[in-house]
Amino acid sequence: IKRITTSTIQAMKAQGEKVTMLTAYDYSMARALDEAGIDVLLIGDSAANVFAGYETTLPITLDNMIYHASAVARGAKRALVLADLPFGEYQGTAEDAFKAAVRMMKESGVHALKLEGGIEIKENIKKIVDAGIPVCGHLGLTPQSINKFGTFGVRAQDQAEADKLKSDALMLQEIGCFAIVLEKIPAALAKEVSDMLDIPTVGIGAGNGCDGQVLVVNDMLGFTKDFKPKFLRQYMQMYDGVVEAATQYAADVKAGSYPNESEQY
Ligand code: KIV
Ligand code: NA
Repeated sequence: IKRITTSTIQAMKAQGEKVTMLTAYDYSMARALDEAGIDVLLIGDSAANVFAGYETTLPITLDNMIYHASAVARGAKRALVLADLPFGEYQGTAEDAFKAAVRMMKESGVHALKLEGGIEIKENIKKIVDAGIPVCGHLGLTPQSINKFGTFGVRAQDQAEADKLKSDALMLQEIGCFAIVLEKIPAALAKEVSDMLDIPTVGIGAGNGCDGQVLVVNDMLGFTKDFKPKFLRQYMQMYDGVVEAATQYAADVKAGSYPNESEQY
């Protein structure tokens, strides 16, 4: 199997082929998504929410992320494996950001890193990219800044924020980012940014004009109970399926019907 690389992803944009990205946090899910032909597996810091049950992505640590990322990397034979750097690890000095990036690359085996933000972290991203580590930008609703935003609502609805997003996107392309995630911004703005850039944009809640799409896998499988924002399409009802399966298992054990004769030694 030929491995998807950052060049493959960029060629897809040139050829008008959409990029598919889903999050993954463990080995088994990574295997299944890889078999399905998903182009990019993202170890999102959304693991803080859907795996660990935190309300925000802020508490997850670099060690936590490395653990999830190494599991996904072992499960993906074809997909490009991309990991978030968590909150606090890259917003300080460029040197500290670089050290966190190197730790993630060495200890997890992922192929690329995603960092949230624009001009504020320009030098930090540049140092990582210049060391040969591919970086994916992330603009719009950047959940690590939730305490600044105060809400998970749509970003860049006013001209000032839209203008900053556009200049951030151009800057990220200029310093060598291979792609940019656009989260929860108006579809028209996302299309404008996508048309303006040579590198691919990957949208979540950013409409159909992006060069690719990403969803949190637990959300698209219907495993995150009661989470159904407008942009989400659920392809399974996994939560209900798990409840049903576990209920049946419990009933079988209680009734003494599991295991049966062919299920024992
Ligand atoms: O952490 C995450 O799942 C993400 C995606 C939503 C892009 O950053
Ligand atoms: Na993230």
